[in-house]
Amino acid sequence: MAENGTIENGQPEKASPALPHPITHLEVKYTKIFINNEWHPSESGRKFATYNPATGAKICDVEEADKADVDKAVEAARAAGQRGSTWRKMDVSSRGQLLNKLADLIDRDRVLLASMETMDTGKPFLQSFFVDLDGCIKTLRYYAGWADKIHGKTMPVDDNFVCFTKHEPIGVCGAIIPWNFPLLMFMWKIAPALCCGNTVVIKPAEQTPLTALHTAALIKEAGFPPGVVNILPGFGPTAGAAISNHMDIDKVAFTGSTDVGKLIKEAAARSNLKRVTLELGGKNPCIVYGDADLQLAVQEAQHGAFFNQGQCCTAASRVFVEEQVYEEFIKRSVENAKKLVAGDPLDARTSHGPQIDQKQFDKIMELIESGKREGAKLECGGCAIGDRGLFIQPTIFSGVKDHMRIAKEEIFGPVQCIFKFKSQEEVVKRANSTEYGLAAAVFTRSMDRALSVSSALQSGTVWVNCYNALHAQAPFGGYKMSGNGRELGEYALAEYSEVKAVTIKLTEKLY
Ligand code: NAI
Ligand code: MG
Repeated sequence: MAENGTIENGQPEKASPALPHPITHLEVKYTKIFINNEWHPSESGRKFATYNPATGAKICDVEEADKADVDKAVEAARAAGQRGSTWRKMDVSSRGQLLNKLADLIDRDRVLLASMETMDTGKPFLQSFFVDLDGCIKTLRYYAGWADKIHGKTMPVDDNFVCFTKHEPIGVCGAIIPWNFPLLMFMWKIAPALCCGNTVVIKPAEQTPLTALHTAALIKEAGFPPGVVNILPGFGPTAGAAISNHMDIDKVAFTGSTDVGKLIKEAAARSNLKRVTLELGGKNPCIVYGDADLQLAVQEAQHGAFFNQGQCCTAASRVFVEEQVYEEFIKRSVENAKKLVAGDPLDARTSHGPQIDQKQFDKIMELIESGKREGAKLECGGCAIGDRGLFIQPTIFSGVKDHMRIAKEEIFGPVQCIFKFKSQEEVVKRANSTEYGLAAAVFTRSMDRALSVSSALQSGTVWVNCYNALHAQAPFGGYKMSGNGRELGEYALAEYSEVKAVTIKLTEKLY
C-alpha cells in the first residue's frame, strides 16, 4: 500500500542490496489454542489443516476451537479484566509499554512472520514484509501512544454540580477476522482494544491461523498478563458464531463478508446486545478525470485493483475514466498489467500470487465468465494461470456497464473493470449507486474538483491522487452496507470504551 511506499506492483521502489530473504523451510511451532497465556488442545479433540495456496500443500494441523473453547477463553478474559486484576490495576502507561514491547518482538521476528504469512496466504513475500508487517508495527506503536492519553471531560452544568466523564474499558472484546490480511487485521483489532484496557477473544480465519498463533507466543513473551489476549483458531459457523452469540462478550468486531456481517449483528441482537463494529465489503469507485496525471492514475488504479491479488475490501473495482483519456488509459493499463509476474510468492521477483482457496477462485472465475457473457470487452487476462493451483491472470475489462454483475458484485480477485464517463454529475451519481460505501478515489490536477467530488462521494475514505493510502492515524470504515463504526485513528478508541458520566452535587453553600 502506498503508506509505506516500498512496493509498487510488487517491486521495491528503490532497489536495495539489503532486501530481506524469506525463510523457505519454516518450522511451525505454535498450533494450539491460546488461552490464559497457555497452549490448549481443543475440547473436542478436533484439528484442521491449513494449506499453502501457492502449492496446495498442507502446512500443518491446528487445534480446532469450538463453543466449549470459546467459553473457556471468555472465562479467562473476564477474569483477566475484572476490577482488581493485574491488567486493571496496571498503570496505564505500562499498557502502552506492553504494546510497544510487542511491536519490538514483531519487528525482531519480522522475517519469520512475513515468511509465515506468505506461506499461509500466498501473498508475495516482499509485500508481507514491507506492507503487512510495517502496518502491524505502526498500528501497535500508534495505540501504544494512546494508552495514557485516553481521558474524559469536565462538563459545565451549574454551580451546584461537578460533572465529569471517565472512559472505561468495555470488557471482553470478541474479534473475528478474515484471511486477506491475517496479521494486520489481528493488530487492527487487538491494539485499540488493549490500549483502552479491554481483554480480547479473537478468532483468526480458518484459512490463515498461523501468524496469529506465533504472535500469541510474543504476547506472552512481552509480558501481557494471562487471559488478556486469547486466540481461537477455528471455523465461522462454530467458533465464530460462539463469539457473536456469547452472553458474556461485551463487544464484537468483525471484518469479512457483508452476509456474515449481518449474521454477526443478528447474533449480537439476539444474545446480549453486545456492541458491534463491522468492516465489510466494497465496490469502490476510482474516478480518473481527463486532467489527471495519467501515468500516476494508471499505476495507482492498477495497484488498487491487483494489490494482494485483488483480495482487498478497498479494491479499486470500478474505474470510471473520462472519455477523452479513456482509450489511452486502457492501453497503458493493459501494458502495465502484463508486467506483473506470477510465481512462487517467496521469490522476490514475484508480484502476483494465488487466490486464497478454491471457493474464492471459483467465485472469481464465475464472475469473469459473467463479464464475458454480459458483453464487457476483455482487454487482457480472463483465465487461470497454468493447469494447477489457484493463480488467476490479472484481468482487465473495458466497456463495463453499470447493470453487469462485475459492476455490482464484490469480485475479490484480480479483475479491473473500466467504465467510460462524460460529465461530473453523471460520474458522481454512478459512483454512489451501490449498496457499498467503503473507499473511493479521485484523480485530477484540480484541487477544487477533488474537494467537491470528495464531498459528494458516499464513502468512509476518499483518496485523492493516491490509492490504498492507509495510515494508523486515519479512521477507516464504511458508509452504507460496507459496515458500522470506524477502525484506526482516535475514532477507534470510542469503539472500545464505555463513557461514564459522574455527577456530584455540592452541598456547601458559599453564596
Ligand atoms: P467470511 O465473511 O465467511 O469470513 C470472514 C471471517 O468470518 C472468518 O474468520 C470466518 O471464519 C468468519 N465467519 C464465517 N461465518 C461466520 C459465522 N456464521 N459467524 C461468525 N463468524 C463467521 O468470508 P469468506 O467466505 O472468507 O469470503 C467471502 C467473501 O467475503 C469474499 O469473496 C469477499 O467478497 C468478502 N470478504 C471481505 C473481506 C474484507 O476485508 N472486508 C475479507 C474476506 C472476505
Ligand atoms: Mg493457509
